[in-house]
Order: sequence, then C-alpha cells, then structure tokens
Amino acid sequence: MKLELEKVVSEIEQFVIANPVELEAFRIRFLGSKGLLKELYGLLKEVPNEEKREAGQQVNNLRTKAEAKHAHFKEQLESDVQTDDYIDLSRPSEPLSIGARHPLSLVRSEIIEIFNRIGYIISEGPEIEDDWHNFSALNFPPEHPARDMQDTFFIEKGEEEMALRTHTSSVQVRVMENATPPIRTISPGRVYRNEAISARAHCFFHQVEGLYIDKDVSFADLKQTLLYFAKEMFGEKAKIRMRPSYFPFTEPSAEVDVSCSICGGEGCNVCKHTGWLEILGCGMVDPNVLEACGIDSKIYSGFAFGMGIERITQLKYRVNDLRLYSENDIRFLKQFTGGI
Ligand code: PHE
Repeated sequence: MKLELEKVVSEIEQFVIANPVELEAFRIRFLGSKGLLKELYGLLKEVPNEEKREAGQQVNNLRTKAEAKHAHFKEQLESDVQTDDYIDLSRPSEPLSIGARHPLSLVRSEIIEIFNRIGYIISEGPEIEDDWHNFSALNFPPEHPARDMQDTFFIEKGEEEMALRTHTSSVQVRVMENATPPIRTISPGRVYRNEAISARAHCFFHQVEGLYIDKDVSFADLKQTLLYFAKEMFGEKAKIRMRPSYFPFTEPSAEVDVSCSICGGEGCNVCKHTGWLEILGCGMVDPNVLEACGIDSKIYSGFAFGMGIERITQLKYRVNDLRLYSENDIRFLKQFTGGI
C-alpha cells in the first residue's frame, strides 16, 4: 500500500496538463469514478486495522493533492482562453469574405490584354500636365476654340500654367518625343474634365488611347485594328462603322460605333433604335503632330485612337450611371467577377 501511494504521488506531480484534453485525462485517471483514488479507497479494506487510520489519512491527502492540481489547472486554462492564448483548433473558422476587382480594373485589363496580343506596349505619364503635352504638341493652336472641346481644370504652379490632363494623348506625345518609330503603344490612365457630375458625365474618368507609327501605315490598318478590338471585346459577331469627325491631332478623324450587342443591330432602347453604340474616337495622326514631336512626317505615318473605359464597361456590364464607379458601394462592386 505504501509503495502504491508513493507511485501515485509522483504520478500526480508529473502529470502534464497543458490543455483541456489533458485536464480531463487527469480527472479521469485520478478523480473519476473508476480512477486511481477510488481504487485506493477500495484497497483500504485490506489494510490491517491498526494501520487503517494512517493509511486513510494518506489517501485523503492524495485526493486533496489531486483535486488541488485539477482546480489549479482548470482555472489557468480558463483564463488562457480569455486572454486568447489558447486556440481551439477544432472550432469552425470565421467565414472569409473575398473581395472583387473593380469593374473598371477588369475592363482596363481586358483592353490592355487585347492590344498586348498584337504587340502594343503600355506607356504611362503624369496626370498634371503642361500645356505643350496636353494641347500645343497635339496641334491645338493657342486660343483655338478646340481647347474648349475639353473643359480643362487649370492649375497655377509658379510661372507656368499646368492642367490636369484632359486625355492620355499627352502620354503619346511623350512617347513620340523619346522613341523612334516603329511605335506601338497604349496609354491607360485617369483623365479630368470640368463637367458637372451626373449619370452621364463625371469630372474624372479613364481612357485607353492607342498609337501606331511606322512607314506606310494606312487608314485601312486603323480600321482593321479597331475591328479586331471590337470582336475581341464584344464577340465575334461585332461590327464597326466609322463616321467622319474632327480632332485637332488627327486628319482625317472618325468616330467609331460598334453594333449593339443587346439587340444585335435590330434596334433597342440602349442603342436608341439605331443598332449602333459609339465607343471611340480615332484618326490618322496629323503630320503637324509628328513634326512637333520630332518625327519626320515624310517618312512616317500613323494612327491614334482613344476610348473611355467607363463607356466600354457600361456597354459590357449594362451600367447606366457613371457615378456608381466612384461611390464605392459594396453592393455594386461585388457583382463583378472574372477577368484577370
Ligand atoms: N484624345 C481624344 C479624346 O480624349 C480621343 C482620341 C484619341 C481621338 C486619338 C482621336 C485619336 O477625346
């Protein structure tokens, strides 16, 4: 009996309790209804009468010891849980809410991808521009009314008057000034115009403008490039049509419509029963622009085009209020998935 007791004492002392499972194992081993102490109380019957008193005392002490250890660790583990030190790996995890790409980012990436596939590289430039890059190099003479076509936010910066760029054609000027043809580049970016905010207009929006300059580039190349784009973006059945237009930096200039993908050209509310939707402006780069940027217009020709990402997104996802793009309403934003 004596030996037995000493073994139990050291077992109680050495029992490691580091978590609730071990705490419960301890209770079952020593204090449970089939535990060691129960067994020891049973053995007391066999102890000779004269030793019974002392042996009984010792078993009682053992029980106190086991109970104290159990109570101590129970309290400690409970306080661990409160201080978050204890992680219950068996608990179900918190649901993860996964974000969604902004529709403008999705469409921007898609446009870039489409032009990347035919060799266009990306170029970027500053959003605060000088007059030269936003206007003068692009054949807008000073005081020319064409400057009013794009209501500009002007900024005073020291002597020079700067502006928030009204289009990313300014980036193309920078590219032409620094590269020798062939040039094949697209410039995605944010642009600013002084317009009252409504469902159909905003004081900032996003563009992708393209530029292709080489020897013998023709209007047919421009048309084919834009047809390729329309088919990649809106589907194999897409058609395009070009209407004569005017931009100071291109001659001739055109506006491009794509066949309405909703009614297939039959006529519906979205295309206002015309079967066509306007998507971009384009034209052959004016020789004055090439010369202003240091490119010999007798050797090289080229085309340029520019589209609004909001407009393409509106047609692709049927968004009819421009303000939704910048209001950050999660109910709007989480509806868009896919793309890259
Ligand atoms: N820069 C023009 C705009 O912002 C678009 C455009 C680009 C038109 C290139 C023709 C050629 O409206």
